[in-house]
Amino acid sequence: MAVPLRALLLVLALGLAQPASAPRKLLVFLLDGFRSDYISDEALESLPGLKEIVSRGVKADYLTPDFPTLSYPNYYTLMTGRHSEVHQMTGNYMWDSNSNKSFDIGVNKDSLMPLWWNGSEPLWVTLTKAKRKVHMYYWPGCEVEILGVRPTYCLEYKTSPTDINFANAVSDALDSFKNGRADLAAIYHERIDVEGHHYGPSSPQRKDALKAVDTVFKYMAQWIQPGPEAGNDRHCQPLSGQDGSFCTKADIFWKDKVIELKQHISLGDLQQVKDRGPLVSLWPAPGKHAEIYNKLRTVEHMTVYEKEAIPSRFYYKKGKFVSPLTLLADEGWFITESRELLPFWMNSTGKRAGWQRGWHGYDNELMDMRGIFLAFGPDFKSNFRAAPIRSVDVYNVMCHAAGIAPLPNNGSWSRVMCMLKSPASAAPRHLPGGLALALTLLLLLQ
Ligand SMILES: *[C@@H]1O[C@H](CO)[C@@H](O)[C@H](O)[C@H]1NC(C)=O
Ligand SMILES: *[C@@H]1O[C@H](CO)[C@@H](O)[C@H](O)[C@H]1NC(C)=O
Ligand SMILES: *[C@@H]1O[C@H](CO)[C@@H](O)[C@H](O)[C@H]1NC(C)=O
Ligand SMILES: *[C@@H]1O[C@H](CO)[C@@H](O)[C@H](O)[C@H]1NC(C)=O
Ligand SMILES: [Zn+2]
Repeated sequence: MAVPLRALLLVLALGLAQPASAPRKLLVFLLDGFRSDYISDEALESLPGLKEIVSRGVKADYLTPDFPTLSYPNYYTLMTGRHSEVHQMTGNYMWDSNSNKSFDIGVNKDSLMPLWWNGSEPLWVTLTKAKRKVHMYYWPGCEVEILGVRPTYCLEYKTSPTDINFANAVSDALDSFKNGRADLAAIYHERIDVEGHHYGPSSPQRKDALKAVDTVFKYMAQWIQPGPEAGNDRHCQPLSGQDGSFCTKADIFWKDKVIELKQHISLGDLQQVKDRGPLVSLWPAPGKHAEIYNKLRTVEHMTVYEKEAIPSRFYYKKGKFVSPLTLLADEGWFITESRELLPFWMNSTGKRAGWQRGWHGYDNELMDMRGIFLAFGPDFKSNFRAAPIRSVDVYNVMCHAAGIAPLPNNGSWSRVMCMLKSPASAAPRHLPGGLALALTLLLLLQ
């Protein structure tokens, strides 16, 4: 299954002069489906790339994702610092009852409508407006015009990018920094998430996907050398690297832990249903609300909420696309209209027959939903273990590292300032010395 990533070779090219006023470079990774225990102290022993990043920078004990613990809500929380009810990206599947338009995890044309995206201004838009050059690789939504703005460069997400795509994206990002073509580069990687869904969080396939990422990180970290603060004045590398992962994963068991809605209600009484799994949104047909609600209240292993009754701690219920009824499964349970509609995947039989073995979307306080946060670079303390942070906190850190004023947001500065070297000076800084490391990444493929 794994892509034959045989060897990676990095070549150090010439140091290039760079104007001292150039903004600091920021490289951001979004590694989907990365559960916090994938890089436990024990696991790190066999992940040399990540181990080096951890020892050179900051590792938060874990990162609590925003609710729902799904992809799009958290991508946007990361980039806006706001909870999903504030930025409005409340699901991977959404429905706007006013316009009868749907957002279906980025695959339908209508999901590119500003309607879904302009509820908040993401960091890449703020930076682009400030004339910073932003390069985005496979980042969901970079192709969308948000508040009238698109990033400088967007390599569109299509279907699951490979390990080679990832390595090339890292190479291209570093190259773009070197040539002054980019100030922020943001790279999305999905394979860890995909393997975790298909084979489960503890599967060898998931571990292989992580090893491939680790290999790329190992070479990347080697060539992003410490700046003068670390006593090395030959390589003044104005680069901050960050990894964050937001939606992680619980084991699921389709044999026995499936809740079939058709066994409890008449599906014809629903005007609209969005998503399946841990969180399902229902719009009952006119006059059917009370009946549906009362029937679903008796169903075990899930909770049905009327909009107003959704716990405030989820920061979800005020979202404008939130449905009148929201179903939330207990950990490990999977809600679907009927078994035939379970999201089977195409395994090597060539048919959509494979069972999913891992999923996310559950209560964001559950341990299995926890993600990771790592950072290193001139702004960050080294070998520093930080207390847990939350998805909303990452935005302020990125703004600080990029030297731009954050917009009003829901992040806590006090939870993240401990990891920074000089948290007081949030003003834009100058590059030390004015030298940049030039990197070329060559991939040798089998
Ligand atoms: C809403 O959209 C769906 C799918 O496009 C369509 O089948 C349905 O008829 C529309 N409903 C209304 C009231 O326009
Ligand atoms: C966002 O998009 C919607 C739908 O296109 C539009 O009605 C709204 O005015 C837009 N908001 C902003 C701030 O541009
Ligand atoms: C495909 O998936 C089904 C259901 O999980 C499983 O029973 C079957 O063994 C799989 N086949 C292969 C070749 O992996
Ligand atoms: C989150 O931030 C937004 C924007 O600053 C603000 O309007 C909202 O009240 C905040 N929500 C909470 C729960 O602090
Ligand atoms: Zn996922």
